[in-house]
Amino acid sequence: MLVSVVSLKGSPGVTTFVVALAAVWPVPARVLVVEADPSGGDLGLRFSLSSAPGLVSMAAAARRGGDAGLVWRHAQPLPGGVPVVVAPPDAEQARAALSALAHDPTGKPEVLRAVAGEPGVVVIADCGRMDPGSPASPLVRSSDVVVLLSRAHADDLAHLPRRLPAVGRWCPNCVLLLVGEGYGEAEVARELGVAPLGRVPYDPVGAAVLCGRLNRLRRGAPSHSALGRFAYRVATRLAACDRPTASSAQHPHERQGGRAS
Ligand SMILES: Nc1ncnc2c1ncn2[C@@H]1O[C@H](COP(=O)(O)OP(=O)(O)OP(=O)(O)O)[C@@H](O)[C@H]1O
Ligand SMILES: [Mg+2]
Repeated sequence: MLVSVVSLKGSPGVTTFVVALAAVWPVPARVLVVEADPSGGDLGLRFSLSSAPGLVSMAAAARRGGDAGLVWRHAQPLPGGVPVVVAPPDAEQARAALSALAHDPTGKPEVLRAVAGEPGVVVIADCGRMDPGSPASPLVRSSDVVVLLSRAHADDLAHLPRRLPAVGRWCPNCVLLLVGEGYGEAEVARELGVAPLGRVPYDPVGAAVLCGRLNRLRRGAPSHSALGRFAYRVATRLAACDRPTASSAQHPHERQGGRAS
């Protein structure tokens, strides 16, 4: 299963939420985080990881041809053990690596699709802000689910009616999460015709753990924070969509009554 997490504007906490999802994803899934943010990665610096291996070495190896196992060889463990393919902090290098990954004749990042297609594997990709022409868009387009984070003030939401149809065309299964204070879920659903799956709680301490500022990140441990508990609820809903018995079930956003397309 390939889950892309994106924003359309600002920095609503995509990277933090990706780490939260990965840390609480229900076992026995094998979870892999891929930093695919064209504006450069943060996790290497936040968790004092090496600059290599990572996205750059993985993209180079993929161009020489490789199997799904290749992806795992370019990952490093976060505290608690979740493997992450880190992006370079430099935007130019990150963009070049992402463009190379999608340079397959199919125009899709095939190595990531291959690993995400393995039984029990969940790839959670931090695709950052989805600007038009983003080199992460091939990855988003080949995702099984897109999780879109948006702050809930009027100026943030004003962009959604124009941009949501495009997101829905990239991936029909799009889950909208509001972040922080602002408009209520019912108001957003009424105005946009898309019901948010929920609201990411404001939780500076939980976020600090997930950003490596408090040395306490462990697999499962974020579920002790409000942010981690919310991520667990979202992960459980998304994981249910991946189980064969649930394949005919509606996706979470549909159960909530809306879809971003
Ligand atoms: N739910 C939250 N509650 C409180 N603070 C948060 C929350 N989520 C993230 N933060 C804080 O907000 C800041 C930005 O978070 P993060 O890097 O995850 O955002 P982003 O959307 O990935 O940004 P960018 O687009 O720059 O990559 C961090 O300092 C993080 O600790
Ligand atoms: Mg980020």
